[in-house]
Amino acid sequence: MRGPTPPLCIDLGCGSGIDAAELRRRGWAVFGIDGHREGLQRLLARPEFEPSPLLTLRLALFEDLGPLPPCRLLNASFSLPFCEPAHFERVWSACVEAIEPGGRFAGQFFGDRDTWASIPDRTHRSRDAARACFDWAEIEMFDEEERDGEDAKGNVKHWHVFHIVARKRT
Ligand SMILES: C[S@@+](CC[C@H](N)C(=O)[O-])C[C@H]1O[C@@H](n2cnc3c(N)ncnc32)[C@H](O)[C@@H]1O
Repeated sequence: MRGPTPPLCIDLGCGSGIDAAELRRRGWAVFGIDGHREGLQRLLARPEFEPSPLLTLRLALFEDLGPLPPCRLLNASFSLPFCEPAHFERVWSACVEAIEPGGRFAGQFFGDRDTWASIPDRTHRSRDAARACFDWAEIEMFDEEERDGEDAKGNVKHWHVFHIVARKRT
């Protein structure tokens, strides 16, 4: 006998699948999207992923995305800031459209004082501008993190990050 259909999470910029693995473990159907083949290959190599219709993957740049399927959760963990600014509003609209009423966004925006804000192909927002992107939602968490540290390659970096969870109004 078949059980209820699991809710769908779109994992935007899923990379090597750290979140996707946890989401699958918790019973979500996951649609992972990433622009880089190596990340998706690492995801598929994870021992916890057996072939399943509840895990679908798409190799695509954010800049090339069209409409997204309806989802209960749109997870964009440290990924949306890598979308080129010229495409961000359209990609963000597709994300907002896809989230079902009562569904959630979880992810990060990067702030205007972040070291990478000066890189032309990155999308950064001031605190007010980031909050304004959620006028369709109840913001459940908006944590601002600002600290000196290092990037993944050990380069000195000033981090200015907003960690956000928001629920779409019904
Ligand atoms: C910092 S990693 C985060 C990966 C994963 N979400 C996590 O939290 O571990 C950013 C991810 O976004 C993807 N990415 C960066 N720019 C992209 C773009 N323009 N289109 C699609 N994916 C992109 C990268 O391939 C990478 O997997």
